[in-house]
Amino acid sequence: MSLRSILRAAAPALALLALGAVTAAPAAAAGDPVRGKTLGYTCLGCHAIATYKNVYPTYSVPKLRGQHAEYLSVALKAYRSGERSHGTMHAHAVTLDDQDIDDVAAYLAGDSIPFDTVSTPAGTPPPAATAICGSCHGAVGIGNVGNIPTLTGQHADYLVYALESYRNGSRKNGLMQPFATQLKPEDIQALAEFYSKQSPSLQTVPLKEKAVRAK
Ligand code: HEC
Ligand code: HEC
Repeated sequence: MSLRSILRAAAPALALLALGAVTAAPAAAAGDPVRGKTLGYTCLGCHAIATYKNVYPTYSVPKLRGQHAEYLSVALKAYRSGERSHGTMHAHAVTLDDQDIDDVAAYLAGDSIPFDTVSTPAGTPPPAATAICGSCHGAVGIGNVGNIPTLTGQHADYLVYALESYRNGSRKNGLMQPFATQLKPEDIQALAEFYSKQSPSLQTVPLKEKAVRAK
């Protein structure tokens, strides 16, 4: 991977970023985590089991606790519309209206890792992390705005699968694809390992939670 070729490919996305288009999305209506806990019960069978894997292909079910609630809403809407394809997630998302989605997102995210928890990276970041990814995902992998996912402590095999999916076009996103298509498999591996080792870490949703606080 040459950084210059990545930057060239990424120019349209970076221009959007400079124009503020990335942050221009309206803030999601705040969800109600108490209502979301009831709705989210069926999600726990996969998202509250730390070792749970998607089977074909095999990769870990993503960690959601600590994620930005707004990004979780964006993701659920993409599964619902079919823009992001995954059979089980589509089947769940079509049962949810917009308010349900915001509520379940607020519950699953819990106390989102705050934007400004900027810490020094653990280990040496791969060059692309500093040159490219950090402009949106922050120095250690905390998404800069609500609709950019946090990557810190996420399962490395899920991050690899996500980046491969953008690269081969099976997951479509105008911001991510120009970057991902420039990455070589070894770059993807190094980036996934780097972000999976950063903290504060995303967590698996706890299976039993005593109380969910209203926000
Ligand atoms: C059968 C297991 C299973 C169940 C049940 C399930 N999920 Fe998922 N979920 C997955 C898998 C696997 C993925 C990753 C799919 C992919 O590759 O896009 C995922 C992805 C997600 C994502 C995207 C995370 C990210 O980082 O992009 C969200 C949000 C989500 N699930 C929420 C839910 C909610 C809400 C429910 C319940 C209404 C639910 N899931 C039920 C397995 C499950
Ligand atoms: C211009 C802003 C921007 C840049 C630069 C960027 N990303 Fe992203 N990234 C996003 C957005 C927005 C999403 C959510 C897209 C979606 O909904 O599928 C995302 C999603 C992801 C995901 C999926 C996370 C999940 O939970 O499913 C991974 C992994 C990722 N980015 C890694 C990277 C890496 C590695 C780089 C550098 C090579 C990078 N990103 C550069 C904006 C960016």
